[in-house]
Amino acid sequence: MGHVYLVGAGPGAADLLTVRALRLIERADVILYDALVTDEILALGPQAKKVPVGKRGGRVSMDQALINRLLVSTATKHEIVVRLKGGDPMLFGRAHEEIEACVQAGIAVSVVPGITAAFGAASALTTSLTQRGLSRSVTFVTPTVARGSQASPSWAKAVAAADTSVIYMGRGDASWIRDTLLNLGMPATLPVVLAEDVSRPSSFNVKGPLADLPDLALKVGSGPVLMMIGEVFAETEVALDLFDARPSSVEMLGSTKAG
Ligand SMILES: C[S@@+](CC[C@H](N)C(=O)[O-])C[C@H]1O[C@@H](n2cnc3c(N)ncnc32)[C@H](O)[C@@H]1O
Repeated sequence: MGHVYLVGAGPGAADLLTVRALRLIERADVILYDALVTDEILALGPQAKKVPVGKRGGRVSMDQALINRLLVSTATKHEIVVRLKGGDPMLFGRAHEEIEACVQAGIAVSVVPGITAAFGAASALTTSLTQRGLSRSVTFVTPTVARGSQASPSWAKAVAAADTSVIYMGRGDASWIRDTLLNLGMPATLPVVLAEDVSRPSSFNVKGPLADLPDLALKVGSGPVLMMIGEVFAETEVALDLFDARPSSVEMLGSTKAG
């Protein structure tokens, strides 16, 4: 019986892997990997059999129950099975279900952390998510599968309560997210940065006020995107700044930019 390792691949750049992750990738017999794992990282384990089990929002992908079964059956035939996941396995990665499947099948399972996309983005933007006097709380949320009749869903309340928020898997719901947050009383002028393809050569960031979130979402491409919201981003410099691009927005921002 083999050992399953749920390994965080980080946001994309190979040199953001942990040393432990690299050692396991180099020794793996089989690597089951998500769509967000880059070729650069997969190339670090040339000896391993690579099996894509990719999940990418909106696209047809392998059902989670099937992934769980594949993980278990692979571990009955191979010694070192690496389940490689984008970012950190323990954040929006369905790690719990995979761990449970292994435990139930009597297969040893370990988890290796990775750099979650939010931390990769904060570093790339050189913007600390907490800042003395400005931000004491950070929330990571996803509104996916939350759509419904609820006027203020729990993810939105969490965003409204935090000083800084990072929204995962939100791009397709930009209008709904903007409307929900404005309805909760969040300022229309609050700075938002959309960070696409964090830590990859194709990385792209756009910034503007919360009121413009749907427009910002139209500016990014088809790569994975984070929505980052909070006053900490007021001074963040990005490739495309819609505050600067439109004089009316700069005026609207007023004290936010100065303070
Ligand atoms: C299923 S979640 C996985 C999150 C992952 N476990 C982590 O810790 O980063 C996928 C979402 O993470 C975000 N994401 C992951 N990698 C990213 C990257 N390199 N750049 C921007 N966003 C990323 C996007 O919001 C994407 O839709």
